[in-house]
Amino acid sequence: MRAVVVRKFGGPEVLESVAVPVPEPGPGQVRIRVTAAAVNPVDVATRAGWLTEAGVIPPREVLGLGWDVAGVVEIGSGSGFRVGDAVIGLRDRIATPLGAYAEQIVLDVSAVAPAPEGFSPAEAATLPLNALTAAQALDLVETDGTVLVTGAAGAVGGYAVALAHARGLRVVAVASGGDEALVRGFGAEFVARGPALGDRVRALVPGGVDAVLDTALLGLDALEAVRGGGEFVAFAAGAAPIPLRGVRVRHVWIRADGARLAELAKLTETGVLPLRVAGVLPLSKAAEAHERLAAGGLRGRIVLTP
Ligand SMILES: NC(=O)c1ccc[n+]([C@@H]2O[C@H](COP(=O)([O-])OP(=O)(O)OC[C@H]3O[C@@H](n4cnc5c(N)ncnc54)[C@H](OP(=O)(O)O)[C@@H]3O)[C@@H](O)[C@H]2O)c1
Repeated sequence: MRAVVVRKFGGPEVLESVAVPVPEPGPGQVRIRVTAAAVNPVDVATRAGWLTEAGVIPPREVLGLGWDVAGVVEIGSGSGFRVGDAVIGLRDRIATPLGAYAEQIVLDVSAVAPAPEGFSPAEAATLPLNALTAAQALDLVETDGTVLVTGAAGAVGGYAVALAHARGLRVVAVASGGDEALVRGFGAEFVARGPALGDRVRALVPGGVDAVLDTALLGLDALEAVRGGGEFVAFAAGAAPIPLRGVRVRHVWIRADGARLAELAKLTETGVLPLRVAGVLPLSKAAEAHERLAAGGLRGRIVLTP
């Protein structure tokens, strides 16, 4: 089968399509024929070598790419899934030689969930990584008051707004002016990104918000919007501010969770979580997908189809 991998770090041109053996599932695993794999910022960071420079991924001869998968179960004896079932899943092992940019993938059954009904594989493939991250970040927050979401028009941020709104929280979204209607549609009040963010949020929420989910990695600028003793969730290594004014600062680190993913898939079916596809390209055009992601301004994910 074919897979797209990285053997040397660099720009999109280092992505290589290679022939590799079809992976065989072990006990507690399923093999999925991939029908769609979303392209995420973590894939760009892996390909460029930033995660290896940061010590997150140890040096490897070959690195697979792609965390998000939608596909069809090929082998899944004893897994609870039947051959032919449409599923979604998350590959959360960052340093393996094979990822979701492939014709087939083996995942632990605990990382897999039924695909949401009524959506294309490309749409379904945009759910796992970013919706699970948003849900797990929200799990870290104890408030039932007001939460600020930075990067609210992004993939994680959009899900975070929608999930926080569904939980009954008051949500304030930080995004570009052009995304105001989008984030208000997710259920948020709006503050434009830019200078003096803390002051402008406090003008809307006197005293500051109870918690911030900082998906735009603003750090101190976002912390300024939180009340003393509030909560801050950081989304990347090095993106956590010093816990000034007694704010409790935590990191979210995504983990696969098939049961939770199944709940999130149900929330797409009821319209709570929007699935957003910015474009669909064949797997052979993975480099073009990376160029488009790096250029910025995408709303939704680019999805690769083997
Ligand atoms: N820790 C984890 O487990 C985990 C898991 C998944 C993702 N992440 C990380 O979470 C972050 C968000 O991921 P994503 O997939 O949602 O990325 P994304 O889709 O690119 O969204 C990021 C959003 O942040 C916005 N933004 C950038 N700078 C901003 C600023 N100064 N003020 C306000 N908004 C700003 C971007 O707007 P423009 O496009 O207009 O610039 C974009 O809408 C990434 O760093 C990703 O690596 C972490």
